[in-house]
Amino acid sequence: MLVLVSVALAQDRAPYTVGDQRSGYTYLTKELQAQQNDELGNQGMLWVERGAALWNAAAGTAAKSCATCHGDAATGMKGVRASYPKWNDALKKPIGLEQRINLCRTEQMGAPAFAWESEALLSITAYVGRQSLGLAVALPRDPRLEPYRQAGEAFYNQRRGQWQLACSYCHVEQAGQHLRGDHLSQGQTNGFPIYRLLWDGMGSVQRMFRWCNEGVRAEPYDYGSDEYIGLEIYLAERGRGLPVETPAVRR
Ligand code: HEC
Ligand code: HEC
Repeated sequence: MLVLVSVALAQDRAPYTVGDQRSGYTYLTKELQAQQNDELGNQGMLWVERGAALWNAAAGTAAKSCATCHGDAATGMKGVRASYPKWNDALKKPIGLEQRINLCRTEQMGAPAFAWESEALLSITAYVGRQSLGLAVALPRDPRLEPYRQAGEAFYNQRRGQWQLACSYCHVEQAGQHLRGDHLSQGQTNGFPIYRLLWDGMGSVQRMFRWCNEGVRAEPYDYGSDEYIGLEIYLAERGRGLPVETPAVRR
């Protein structure tokens, strides 16, 4: 039975390479690929398990859990991770998955927002994301996202920091090359939140942006800033069609 289920999953999974876009998965060693695919070996699954517990835990003044309103995550959250960032009518701007979850905490549950990179936010985001495993990243074709995508593209190609390097220098021009011991990938976002060996833990896509900004000695932007949401949208569009791998294992 288990074998049948995993065969079906492998067949349904979106491809790791779409045109010239390659998931970070394709840059991993065979051992790390196997680790990511193994539910027991993938360290990120610890966060997914914690997220499952949070999903069912009542909290806040409303004493409701995520499950109270959304039911079984396997159906209610399927496809959600593949479609974010998404436009939010109340805020009149696009928001990422972490921000969407925190809006449910504050507005639907009467509970405090989880801090960025807290174990709780990473866990619930990983759990929600996992329900889209293997589905192709496909943001809604929403013209309101377009100015943010364009800003993200401009950000991506702009040199910055003491090193005066653009994101595109490392992840387009030098992709596949080695830089100070790192094997540079295309910097795709389909695996987040990821379990990163270097961090010995989990990180959101915005933690990665900050890490990459700091790597060239540039001032990182705030978590949830419009700049980083623009980057998220641009990168999701660039990698449209790649499979959600949450939680991916990366070096
Ligand atoms: C009291 C009911 C309620 C609770 C409790 C609740 N939500 Fe929601 N959630 C909603 C509603 C209503 C929406 C749609 C809001 C909208 O479209 O503006 C939503 C939307 C979402 C979305 C976006 C779905 C999409 O397709 O874009 C996610 C993700 C989500 N909730 C996650 C959670 C998580 C995780 C929890 C627990 C921490 C939670 N919600 C708790 C009512 C709730
Ligand atoms: C000096 C080189 C360098 C620059 C410039 C750089 N990065 Fe990275 N980036 C890395 C390294 C090293 C890694 C980890 C190995 C890999 O996946 O390439 C990484 C990883 C990533 C990942 C994760 C890829 C995955 O598969 O999980 C993303 C997303 C990313 N970078 C985005 C960006 C963005 C956005 C910028 C510009 C703000 C940027 N990077 C600038 C070096 C760089």
